[in-house]
Amino acid sequence: MAALNNRVAVVTGSARGIGRAIALKLAQAGADVVVTDTDASGIEQVAKEIRDMGRKALAVAANVADAGDIALLVKKTQEVFPTLDILVNNAGVTRDGLLLRMEEKDWDLVLSVNLKGPFLLTKAVCQIMMKQRYGRIVNVASVVGQTGNAGQANYSSSKGGLISLTRSVAKELGSRNITCNAVAPGFIATPMTEKLDVKLREAYLKAIPLNRAGTPEDVAGAVLFLVSDDAAYITGQVVGIDGGMFMR
Ligand code: NAI
Repeated sequence: MAALNNRVAVVTGSARGIGRAIALKLAQAGADVVVTDTDASGIEQVAKEIRDMGRKALAVAANVADAGDIALLVKKTQEVFPTLDILVNNAGVTRDGLLLRMEEKDWDLVLSVNLKGPFLLTKAVCQIMMKQRYGRIVNVASVVGQTGNAGQANYSSSKGGLISLTRSVAKELGSRNITCNAVAPGFIATPMTEKLDVKLREAYLKAIPLNRAGTPEDVAGAVLFLVSDDAAYITGQVVGIDGGMFMR
């Protein structure tokens, strides 16, 4: 039997990149998946790929930073699925720039999508998980949430905040059999990193002991482990998926 049979997962930002790989990986393991993103055509495509595997999929267009969208997302999920077992807060954006030149709107956007979004969705979903006395939450943070990064004060602060949110949620909800962990990817080849300057890409690659960029599937495999029964006693942790870029 597949590890996630009869589980229902919501994966944000799953129209492409890491979120898409996570949605497909969870479906391969037997889960039914709510594919949600601001990209309405992308989610339909990923939902179709999941249905082609023989799993159920629901595509819901939603902006994670919008409380109204989140309420609608949870309502639509509950209309279609009897449970909501797994939440992966993956949607994220960058608006890079040096602190001195960083505009307030770029700070606000990144913090609202990358940190307020997971707060809103976790708050909505945990009410269902608490009643079920079962839940698995994984937040997609970043290595720079642990190390900081020049040119990414907004992004690294949002991901550092997400790691703290992870630990607080793990402490609040552990007694209800809800685990909450974070993954901290390093340099992963996706549309988000394609736009990086060539010199910066080379510098990142030099700092990776495994000597290659990660793939969305590298991240998805770790997320699958964290939501599986094999990780039932793991909560409040940050799992680095960075080829050894950051070691503690
Ligand atoms: P991506 O840019 O390829 O995909 C992000 C997805 O999130 C897109 O489909 C986008 O439409 C969606 N999205 C953006 N804003 C949204 C919103 N307000 N509401 C709902 N959906 C929204 O990015 P990628 O690389 O797949 O990143 C996924 C996650 O992994 C992000 O949280 C990112 O910060 C994190 N990450 C990525 C790394 C990388 O090297 N690619 C490294 C570390 C972390």
